[in-house]
Amino acid sequence: MSAPNKSYDPVEVEALKPEEIERMRDEALAAFAAAADLDQLREAKVAHSGDRSPLALANREIGALPPHAKADAGKRVGQARGAVNKAFAARRAELEAERDARVLVEEAVDVTLPYDRTPAGARHPLTTLSERIEDIFVAMGYAVAEGPEVETEWFNFDALNIGPDHPARGEHDTFFVQGDEADGADSGIVLRTHTSPVQIRSLIDREPPVYVICPGRVYRTDELDATHTPVFHQVELLAVDEGLTMADLKGTLDHMVQALFGEGMKTRLRPNFFPFTEPSAEMDMVCYVCRGESVGNPDKPCRTCSSEGWIELGGCGMVNPKVLTACGVDPTKYSGFAFGFGIERMLMFRHNVEDMRDMVEGDVRFTRPFGMEI
Ligand code: DAH
Repeated sequence: MSAPNKSYDPVEVEALKPEEIERMRDEALAAFAAAADLDQLREAKVAHSGDRSPLALANREIGALPPHAKADAGKRVGQARGAVNKAFAARRAELEAERDARVLVEEAVDVTLPYDRTPAGARHPLTTLSERIEDIFVAMGYAVAEGPEVETEWFNFDALNIGPDHPARGEHDTFFVQGDEADGADSGIVLRTHTSPVQIRSLIDREPPVYVICPGRVYRTDELDATHTPVFHQVELLAVDEGLTMADLKGTLDHMVQALFGEGMKTRLRPNFFPFTEPSAEMDMVCYVCRGESVGNPDKPCRTCSSEGWIELGGCGMVNPKVLTACGVDPTKYSGFAFGFGIERMLMFRHNVEDMRDMVEGDVRFTRPFGMEI
């Protein structure tokens, strides 16, 4: 700005004259005040308090002044720069506040506007639970087997050792498919009442060893209410191999409930009767909510198991040799175990679903909270 000057007088250095400094300061303040947004403010800052701004250049001149003049000029320039920095900070705060307020208005989302995207559907929890159970067994080497829902009486009953006069046949609340008049309207065809006929089909179709898990829809003449539905789902398991015992059945059941409900879960068997298994048992699992702690403990009642400590799962047993024989499997060489249970019931206690009707009405408000679990 100025040439080296031996007799340096601050008053004569143009850039350090008090009125010059004031002018620079006022121009800076005016430019900041005039900046309409943060970009303009940033430009004004570069121009008026950046490294090459008049005030910065004036500041550099101070170093060349004789000592007695330095303090005076330094104070003036320092005050001016301080005022400029303060004005900048104040204007920036103002502009930022304005921007934030504007963004809040411009980017506001009207949550009451109609929603125009097709909502993602949800898979039915019965499907996902059933697949989860299948996965547990597929991981152990089981194959998934399916059979028809419209089934012959032979597969649904006779081959399972439920002969025409067997009382169990009458207890099955069966839907019969009407035949032609010529057949005396007796078609011998029913809507399957359980998934056990898939055991028979699997044994006929496959050579032992057979390890299958059979999920599927079944039918019974029940009225739809909170705990019954005429169309429901079961999962059946069948293992036929050399040397299988009830211990294998028990270990398999324990593994399943641990995989579904967590570590430490176990099952118990209670004697029962099914024509297709011998011996047969009813299988229970420890209540996964209270883990048995509600039993005899009135202070801590459990709604899930009605404070019984156990939840009934379904039926099981060692495959009746008569069933193996009916399927052409040699019962002196092979033995097997089987179990079957209802998916709706398990969904009810696993997820606290209190009314079975919710599962069949197809209302997405029921299925959606279960998410898109695959
Ligand atoms: N099929 C039986 C029912 O629906 C359930 C069942 C019991 C299946 C024992 C089995 C079994 O495989 O071994 O009532």
